[in-house]
Amino acid sequence: MTPVIPKASTSEAAETARQHTLRHADLLLCGATVMTPNGAERLDIACAQGRITALGDLLPGWSADCVLDLNGLHVLPGVIDSQVHFREPGLEHKENLEAGTRGAVLGGVTAVFEMPNTYPLTLGAADLQAKLDAAQGRSWCDHAFYIGGSALNADSLQELEQLPGCAGIKVFMGSSFGDLLADEEDVLRRILRHGRRRLAVHAEDETRLRERKYIALDSGDVRQHPVWRDVESALKASQRIVRLAAEVKRRLHVLHVSTAEEMQFLAAHKDRVTVEVTPHHLSLQAPDCYERLGSLAQMNPPVRGQVHQDALWQAIRSGVVDVIGSDHAPHTLQEKSQAYPASPSGMTGVQTLLPVMLNHVHAGRLSLQRLVDLTSAGPARVFGLEGKGRIALGFDADFSIVDLKARRRVRNDWIASVSGWSPYDGMPVVGWPIHTIVRGHCVVRDEVLEGQAQGRPLRFLEVP
Ligand code: DOR
Repeated sequence: MTPVIPKASTSEAAETARQHTLRHADLLLCGATVMTPNGAERLDIACAQGRITALGDLLPGWSADCVLDLNGLHVLPGVIDSQVHFREPGLEHKENLEAGTRGAVLGGVTAVFEMPNTYPLTLGAADLQAKLDAAQGRSWCDHAFYIGGSALNADSLQELEQLPGCAGIKVFMGSSFGDLLADEEDVLRRILRHGRRRLAVHAEDETRLRERKYIALDSGDVRQHPVWRDVESALKASQRIVRLAAEVKRRLHVLHVSTAEEMQFLAAHKDRVTVEVTPHHLSLQAPDCYERLGSLAQMNPPVRGQVHQDALWQAIRSGVVDVIGSDHAPHTLQEKSQAYPASPSGMTGVQTLLPVMLNHVHAGRLSLQRLVDLTSAGPARVFGLEGKGRIALGFDADFSIVDLKARRRVRNDWIASVSGWSPYDGMPVVGWPIHTIVRGHCVVRDEVLEGQAQGRPLRFLEVP
């Protein structure tokens, strides 16, 4: 393919000089198969000052400070994980921003959106700023932070959601972990009325969860987790928030959808609603996962049985699902070993998102092109990210470079999280992240961390 170089009308001499400058790159990626918006293409990629400056057959004729020969590998646009809990401030014994983002890049993730159920909760401008400050010089990937929507800040969310580095507003309709909850109708209405960005929602019905908690308490059996937090709990909350959002024409992003019934319902509301699924809901299955892993498989909303998992895969195939997010939610093994239901819900996931999903690609459950749509283009589209999500001229030079044939085993000692474990420990996979590049900086080379933590706040487009 002929190199694609941006053109400008200049004099001939200036044009020659410009061509010379353009033919020097900070970083040149050569010989790989590149997942562009056109599909899989054999291309070289030139990057300068953190951006993609040329695409095409660039050898010979180009020089670069650094050339990576990527023969046999696939270059994906950097994977964006739009749901992680990095627990800082306040819960650093479970996770922190440095270790969480280190796990991210080791797993091929180049950008994360972090959740607000920390201590203190992320409810105001100062809380957001504290997280941005803490990420400076310690975050290995680019990042943004959600602000939690609650009765306390509902009327100022319009201003808060516009703050630089804010991923948007997140609402917990059902309590999961921490004190963030908004389940009363008037509070939800106030939250929905104050703001224009897409509202991210954890949809489980708090009243029904409280009424049914006895199921967990009486049984003390983690296999009852999807019985306590049943299909109706999830469906009811999804239906309610879609109804309330319609009143004010607000757009929604329903996180970690786990049931066939919700998928059917949400498919009828795609004009307003985008949908996330998680690798664990696509990969683990009740009852087997509870028998094998006990409370390590305990997650909210719960991992359910085959009928639901099949429906999630069907929703991926039919395009109802927009995004795959990990819901990386670490707790220590000691905390997880408490008797159910005192055991907290949550598992690590940011580092295994890509390997687990590449393994599904290998098994033929989805195409690599569809995976890229769910992990790069999808999050960029849903959240209005600037300069991210595709391999195209002018976009940020973020790449997850993978070997689709590499055979590895997920192991706890590979997991960077402070909590140090994965529900996939011991699982063989085919497909593995080899190099991770964030805005032209190689932060993982040949599976090994290198360089410095230079993550920056993500930039968002203005809401139309
Ligand atoms: O299981 C979960 N744990 N689900 C969530 O949505 C939150 C989370 C946590 O923060 O531990």
